[in-house]
Parts: sequence; C-alpha cells; structure tokens
Amino acid sequence: MKIYAHRGASHDFPEMTALAYENAVKQGADGFECDLRLTKDGVAILWHDADLKRRADNDAVVAETKLKKLKAIYPQILTLDEFLDFGITEKKSLLLETKHPVPSRTNIEEVIVERLAKEKSRIKKSEIDITVMSFSWFAVEKIKSLNKEISTTFLLHDYTPWFTARYSSAQSIGPGINLLRKNPALAKRIKSTGRKLNVWTVNEASDIKLCQQLGVDNLITNRPGYAREVLNNI
Ligand code: G3P
Ligand code: CA
Repeated sequence: MKIYAHRGASHDFPEMTALAYENAVKQGADGFECDLRLTKDGVAILWHDADLKRRADNDAVVAETKLKKLKAIYPQILTLDEFLDFGITEKKSLLLETKHPVPSRTNIEEVIVERLAKEKSRIKKSEIDITVMSFSWFAVEKIKSLNKEISTTFLLHDYTPWFTARYSSAQSIGPGINLLRKNPALAKRIKSTGRKLNVWTVNEASDIKLCQQLGVDNLITNRPGYAREVLNNI
C-alpha cells in the first residue's frame, strides 16, 4: 500500500505549502496529494477552498483574482508547475484533484493535460505515477476525452450513487474512510470492477490497519510519517 501525503504533511505543516511537501518527503511519503483551481489569469494553483478566508483571512476568490494578487495575500501559494517540478525532482508520485463546480468549468482539466504533455519526458524519466482525481464525474471524463493515457480516480462522497462509479472511465475509485468504515464490503465491490482503491483521508491507526486489511492500493493521509510507523508495526 502506497502512502500519499494529503495536502503534504498537513497534520504538522500548513497545507499545500513547500514546507508541507518537503516534510512529507522527510516523513517517508511515496507521493503527494493536492487540490487544484484556476486563477483569473488561468494559472493552475494548489488551493482547496473557493476563496482565501480559511487560510489567509481574506475574501479574495481564487477564480476572480490574478496570481500576482493571490501571491501578495498568501506568498506560500504553489503553482501546478512548481508542484510538478518538485514531484519529478523528488521522484514522488502525484494525485492532482480538480475542484468543481467552478466558473471556468473544465478549463482546469485542459490546463493539466497541457502541462503534463509539456513535462512528459521528465515524468517518464522520473518513473512517477500521476493521477488526476475529482468528485466530478464529468471532470474525470473530460480528462479521458483529452488524453486517455492519463490515469484518473473518481472520488466518492458518502452519497454518490454507485452507478456513477460503475460507469466512470476512471482506473481507480476513491471513497472516504468514513464510507469505507461503514461499508467495508465496498472495497471488494470496487476491486471486482478491476479498479484500484484510493482512500482518503486516513489519519488514525485503526483506519490505517483497516485499509491494509481491505487491500487498499493508495492511502491518502495528513500524517505520512505516522502511517508509515503504523504499517511497519503490523
Ligand atoms: O484525496 C481526496 C480528498 O482530498 C478529498 O477531500 O476535501 O480534502 O479535498 P478534500
Ligand atoms: Ca483533496
């Protein structure tokens, strides 16, 4: 089971900053997870929320603000280009989650596909896996329509109807740990469709062990060092 640092080592460091990802490397993560949004000037940045309230106490909306202004408010913001470069350099696999709905619809998927094409030879040489994930069924299908070689994960909310996962073109399915804890048989159901299983956001020892027992392929956690320790002691 691979360990992905959710927003970096975000239990200990500010989420999706260089510091969080550098420390995810130190904590022994196999890869990194991030959330992506487009700025007003069309730059893909690592940011979870639609606005800057929670992390920077500022009302700026990512989709309505240019990168330069966003960086002035929160200088630690990383761009997708910076993140790709770091992952390739550190040889860490990447889970890129696109957030929806957004006013620019699926432009973010177009930007990602274009950036991955630009870095194709470096990505291949570094032997890392890059997967685009989304809770949006249409975002996953958009990636597939643009480049069917790109690996995708369809993320599940607790209320996502099963048929949408069944008919997704994604090679992996991503339930949350709460859903899997309530319904462990879901792991077998997903595996029976030939898909891999990526589970978020798994921070407690009992849940990490449950994921190991259920044959989870990729564990997404805020605590990569702790997850490694728990797995080493099973
Ligand atoms: O890895 C998937 C997980 O990150 C989805 O939830 O809200 O943390 O982006 P969220
Ligand atoms: Ca995420």
